Amino acid sequence: MNILLLGSGGREHAFAWKIVQSPKCSQLFVAPGNPGTAEIATNVSLGVTDFTGIYAFIQAQSIDLVVIGPEEPLVKGLVDYLHTQKGTEHLPIVGPSQLGATLEGSKDFSKQFMLRNGVPTAAYATFHAHQLEEGIAYLEQQSLPIVLKADGLAAGKGVLICESLEDAKLSLKEMLVDAKFGDASSKVVVEEFLTGIELSVFVATDGVSYKILPEAKDYKRIGEGDTGLNTGGMGAVSPVPFADAAFLQKVEERIVKPTIAGLEKEGIPYKGFLFIGLMNTQGDPYVIEYNVRMGDPETEAVLPRIESDFVDLLVGIAGGTLASYTLQISPKTCTTVVMVSGGYPESYAKGFPMTLPEKTRNSMVFHAGTAQNESGVLTNQGGRVLAITGMASTLEAALDAAYATVSEISWEKSNFRRDIGQDILRLENK
Ligand code: AMP
Ligand code: GLY
Repeated sequence: MNILLLGSGGREHAFAWKIVQSPKCSQLFVAPGNPGTAEIATNVSLGVTDFTGIYAFIQAQSIDLVVIGPEEPLVKGLVDYLHTQKGTEHLPIVGPSQLGATLEGSKDFSKQFMLRNGVPTAAYATFHAHQLEEGIAYLEQQSLPIVLKADGLAAGKGVLICESLEDAKLSLKEMLVDAKFGDASSKVVVEEFLTGIELSVFVATDGVSYKILPEAKDYKRIGEGDTGLNTGGMGAVSPVPFADAAFLQKVEERIVKPTIAGLEKEGIPYKGFLFIGLMNTQGDPYVIEYNVRMGDPETEAVLPRIESDFVDLLVGIAGGTLASYTLQISPKTCTTVVMVSGGYPESYAKGFPMTLPEKTRNSMVFHAGTAQNESGVLTNQGGRVLAITGMASTLEAALDAAYATVSEISWEKSNFRRDIGQDILRLENK
């Protein structure tokens, strides 16, 4: 098969690494890709929202399967666009329709969907720009802390957890009236604060059948001990020991089944990955959010554990034949440590050279925000630069493998968290 993968992050490098291991893949193109995908596939200089360019490329290269990594093209309707163009009406695509992508593109839509389909989630109310007074009256009735969410996509920054009523009122005004997150906060979801431990669950679906992929835990804050600003993700671990079989059974019965059944019942076309961010509140799962794609860096910890043919999985999703796919998962543990540019998630300097080790032991180096300068030297270009995954029989050994590779890599001001997985080790040793 000729496969086109869209995206340029660590997630897409991990996808590419997995895809090229399959004998079913004859040629892999990545648009736009990164220096890591360039080593194993052919990068194509096309943006992920360049719909006409993508369509032309698919036609020119006889692409058999398209895999869409990030949410932006999904929310903008790339799947619907391709499926209404001449010659690509029936092209297998991994990624939901625009309506399906609204589960991530609008928090209000996704809360309403959960409510209609009996999926457990925090209590909430939604307010529009002209409803500031109603919103403030509602806030006065709620207990603290309280969560404010911009309805639309806000690059992971649109969620505020307010500890005081004054802060909540001011933030609501800033979002609704002063357009703090632009158009994304012209509607705001005000939500009950859930306490517990967070978990990411990944589901592959063809819209009817589903397969539950390995779960993962993400480390969102920049600082050790979960302190400081939120980031796109500083690390991940899979599997997650506190997500035992009994808890995952609840997730499947109470969340995955009604979600997939709801998509089908409501006629929402969905062939792709669904990432369920949830809270384990005293042993019961509640959905915090849906994402309509895989997580980053969770993908870098989840995909290496998939032992069955990955292209077959993608074909099953896109072709509606997932029911006949047998998913095989490695019992090993994967830990991912993200190396970032110093200063991230605030401003940071780019262009510092780095050298990657020729060989690594029990670990993989996935590129995210790297670039190659004119002399072919690798430099840091984005905030999150590399994702290093260690894989071993135990969490300790996986961490050792990941950090051994991390210790061989550095550039001026590079930064990473040294405590990935430590909270899980502490829980296990209790
Ligand atoms: P989101 O962008 O929806 O993933 O939210 C960002 C983060 O805010 C989540 O990963 C949670 O840590 C936190 N969060 C979101 N909603 C809630 C909630 N209802 N209760 C507690 N924490 C939340
Ligand atoms: N790691 C969280 C995300 O991909 O949204």
